[in-house]
Amino acid sequence: MRIGVLTSGGDCPGLNAVIRSVVHRAVVDHGDEVIGFRDGWKGLLEGDWLKLDLDAVSGILARGGTMLGSSRVQPAHLRDGVERARGHLQDLGLDAIIPIGGEGTLKAARLLSDSGLPIVGVPKTIDNDIAVTDVTFGFDTAVGVATEALDRLKTTAESHQRVLIVEVMGRHTGWIALHSGMAAGAHAIVVPERPFDIAELAAKVGERFSAGKKFAIVVAAEGAKPREGTMSYDEGRKDVYGHERFTGIARQLSIELEERLGKEARPVILGHVQRGGTPTAYDRVLATRFGWHAVEAVHRGEFGHMTALRGTDIVMVSLAEAVETLKTVPEERYAEAECVL
Ligand code: F6P
Repeated sequence: MRIGVLTSGGDCPGLNAVIRSVVHRAVVDHGDEVIGFRDGWKGLLEGDWLKLDLDAVSGILARGGTMLGSSRVQPAHLRDGVERARGHLQDLGLDAIIPIGGEGTLKAARLLSDSGLPIVGVPKTIDNDIAVTDVTFGFDTAVGVATEALDRLKTTAESHQRVLIVEVMGRHTGWIALHSGMAAGAHAIVVPERPFDIAELAAKVGERFSAGKKFAIVVAAEGAKPREGTMSYDEGRKDVYGHERFTGIARQLSIELEERLGKEARPVILGHVQRGGTPTAYDRVLATRFGWHAVEAVHRGEFGHMTALRGTDIVMVSLAEAVETLKTVPEERYAEAECVL
């Protein structure tokens, strides 16, 4: 068989581990040929590719980012390019494409699959917001980076008797905020799933100072918003792909909390550091398993599906089901964390 691989959307630690695993399973065990498209769907639409053999993927398991490059593509552009993609597939003699990506990529994969292209997807995202899989690779690494940052920030916050508001990624879900906040023992966490009341947040932080503590750490998911009418709030803009560009909830909260509490407050935006660098062992293993199972699904002809983790098993789920809803943090998780507003 001849298989094409691509990575699309925001990168995340573990992408290279999937690429390596696909090549190993396909080339070594099945005698397939594998090629990689450069820079996501763009490479497929423009016919820009490279051969992926064992040498090409040597040494990439632990490397962050993606050796193939990534990009985002506007859905309309992709829709217009379906026939071009089909043409490249035929010219290259490809039997299947394995796109590795998050919500946007999986929606695009579904579109191409519905047009009759042989697609087997692999989900990825640090946000952990894909509903049909227990977890996505990249999440564990991002939580680890954010937790280490929070641990470090505690010491400087204490030295200066400050409130630090630490903004983490996650788009419309609070998974990274919840897990890193719990792991680091944050004093308050705000998440997009539950709009917060600024008066309650100020009271919670204030109580800590009244109890004699010298500092406080607030973890704010980038998509967290105040309850309507409780605080003026600068809404984010959309980028050209229709994704929200978050405007800095940490900055806005630091101004508000400083005023309400009379304590120095500083925003810290962790940003893309959460997506960079070496994947954890957990993410490498999950990514490797996803790659292995994606190749098996190709050989079974299970197109229009993607890999997912359920318990300890890797299962195949239809792309249609995969893109139906986002996985948000369920209500019962807030109580366990104790400090979610
Ligand atoms: O979806 C992954 C993610 O890192 C989100 O957490 C974040 O909102 C977004 O991508 C950032 O995108 P960009 O790299 O385009 O700024």
